[in-house]
Amino acid sequence: PPLDECLSLYDFEAVAKSVLPVGAWAYYSSGADDEITMRENRNAYQRIWFRPRILRDVTNIDFASTILGHKTSLPIYITATALGKLGHPDGEKNLTWAAAEQDVIQMIPTLASCSFDEIVDAAKPGQTQFMQLYVNKDREITRKIVQHAEKRGIKGLFITVDAPQLGRREKDMRQKFADEGSNVQRSSGESVDKSQGAARAISSFIDPGLSWKDMPWFRSITKMPLILKGVQCWEDAVLAAEAGLDGVVLSNHGGRQADYARSGIEVLAEVMPKLRERGLLKNGFEVYIDGGVRRAGDIIKAVALGAKAVGIGRPFLYAYSAYGHEGVVRAIQILKDEMEMNLRLLGAPTLADITPEMIDASNLTSR
Ligand code: FNR
Repeated sequence: PPLDECLSLYDFEAVAKSVLPVGAWAYYSSGADDEITMRENRNAYQRIWFRPRILRDVTNIDFASTILGHKTSLPIYITATALGKLGHPDGEKNLTWAAAEQDVIQMIPTLASCSFDEIVDAAKPGQTQFMQLYVNKDREITRKIVQHAEKRGIKGLFITVDAPQLGRREKDMRQKFADEGSNVQRSSGESVDKSQGAARAISSFIDPGLSWKDMPWFRSITKMPLILKGVQCWEDAVLAAEAGLDGVVLSNHGGRQADYARSGIEVLAEVMPKLRERGLLKNGFEVYIDGGVRRAGDIIKAVALGAKAVGIGRPFLYAYSAYGHEGVVRAIQILKDEMEMNLRLLGAPTLADITPEMIDASNLTSR
């Protein structure tokens, strides 16, 4: 169907499923084990209701925001998803171009199909990019990656902490991994076993020994803000803030790691009061969530519960797999249209007006 017939983020998924090679669809769409968590990422949002306010002047709507001090046209970012060329020959550059047009921030994955420099070079002058880091057992490799990223102007380092071993995504594992033009072996140097799907083939270099003790080392090698991606309970969010990190992403990796992990939005409701009561939000510590965000209403629910921004993964992969970078531009525009309408109907003309009272989350934790 023509691009302008895509009306919601779900429409891109349907088109992508019909155009993607079987193996690529398996890699992008799969979750771990029984995919309970992957489905829960959607279900959790459906347990939160709105409490709209009336008779507030909603002529002018403004949802621009910042992430780590950098401007974004709405409180989302394009999160890291590996192997972009499985979906489209331009891979992650589709996301870079769309992010530039729509003024949002892209997080570059360690396991991108395009080289890191290619993705940075594809950005327009002044465009903000973050980087996602898988930590190598060989810390010298990690040091080089991090310091190169900083030199190239990356504005935040998101260290993935929920993947000491890649989850079992059986849909993906059933596919024999055909290396479709990606240079995934670059960052590990080791030979990989391709018999168990794309994910397992590329992840053998990740260090399961990574621990809190490594955090000062990261601080010592870079001035970039450090954010932990994949925090799943308040205890670890508190530890991250106390360790002097700059933020956390409450995330279960799109349901691709621990099955039966809770959704980011549910964990957010648990985390924010604990950080607040300990005074840990004062130094600009930011909390983000990702997983299952498909509607502007989801973004608003996250903001109401205290998230600074939300990450969105699969919908943008699907959008460019089906339509190239124009698909991603359209997907972001759809979110902006939804955002404008939702904020009007809620009586909240700015993000500051999205208070906790705008939602009823009393059923969020009762499944
Ligand atoms: C991911 N994700 C991910 N995260 C990460 O830290 N490093 C990575 O290399 C990848 N790769 C990756 C590939 C694919 C195909 C998917 C779908 C996801 C997780 C990602 O950053 C994010 O947590 C989820 O995608 C968010 O959920 P949604 O928006 O896809 O539902």
